[in-house]
Amino acid sequence: MAGNREEAPDYGRGVVIMDDWPGYDLSLFTYPQHYYGDLEYVLIPHGIIVDRIERLAKDIMKDIGYCDIMVLCVLKGGYKFCADLVEHLKNISRNSDRCVSMKVDFIRLKSYRNDQSMDEMQIIGGDDLSTLAGKNVLIVEDVVGTGRTMKALLSSIEKYKPNKIKVASLLVKRTPRSDGFRPDYAGFEIPNLFVVGYALDYNEYFRDLNHICVINEHGKEKYRV
Ligand code: IMP
Ligand code: MG
Repeated sequence: MAGNREEAPDYGRGVVIMDDWPGYDLSLFTYPQHYYGDLEYVLIPHGIIVDRIERLAKDIMKDIGYCDIMVLCVLKGGYKFCADLVEHLKNISRNSDRCVSMKVDFIRLKSYRNDQSMDEMQIIGGDDLSTLAGKNVLIVEDVVGTGRTMKALLSSIEKYKPNKIKVASLLVKRTPRSDGFRPDYAGFEIPNLFVVGYALDYNEYFRDLNHICVINEHGKEKYRV
């Protein structure tokens, strides 16, 4: 963990979803017709995602809700999480004596093609990182898999000398390929499965799905590039 992230309180692994969790039958929920036949099951229903984010916002406010925050959303997968998180942070800020001023910025990285991690991480967009100097940065990411993406991003950002960097990741995967990176705030710890929905994609598909679901072999084949 980087020097300026060291005094983070440990909020643990988040909601831990065990490897033998069967998920929810798709027929119990609604989801877009164009994905019928492409999914295995619902891993995390949309309502639970939003409820968990509300608590993450409370934890974040407790730690850094007394200062200005630069929220750095990692697109595209982080956009739903970021939007809901910022909404909850705003609500807490409005209804308490904590006064936080937030700016939101967006960056794009691409590390996955099909469901395999690529060797090279592409940085596709984003503002000049030098604007982060002296700022309290909250990185908002969809999922930490191996941790490689987040470590690469953190080392780029640290060069610009922000005051503080915290990382919130909606999901953390239990994978043997993990490099041990742990976010400061984790929504859910999930089995080593490729998941889609709630802005997480498989080759740009499934972002328009509310629940976090496990894609099936048919879905992987259908949307393979
Ligand atoms: P890492 O470098 O292995 O930690 O990969 C992190 C990035 O890969 C995330 O920011 C995601 O964009 C992408 N990713 C990892 N696992 C999944 C998944 O199950 N579904 C969709 N995207 C994923
Ligand atoms: Mg991501």
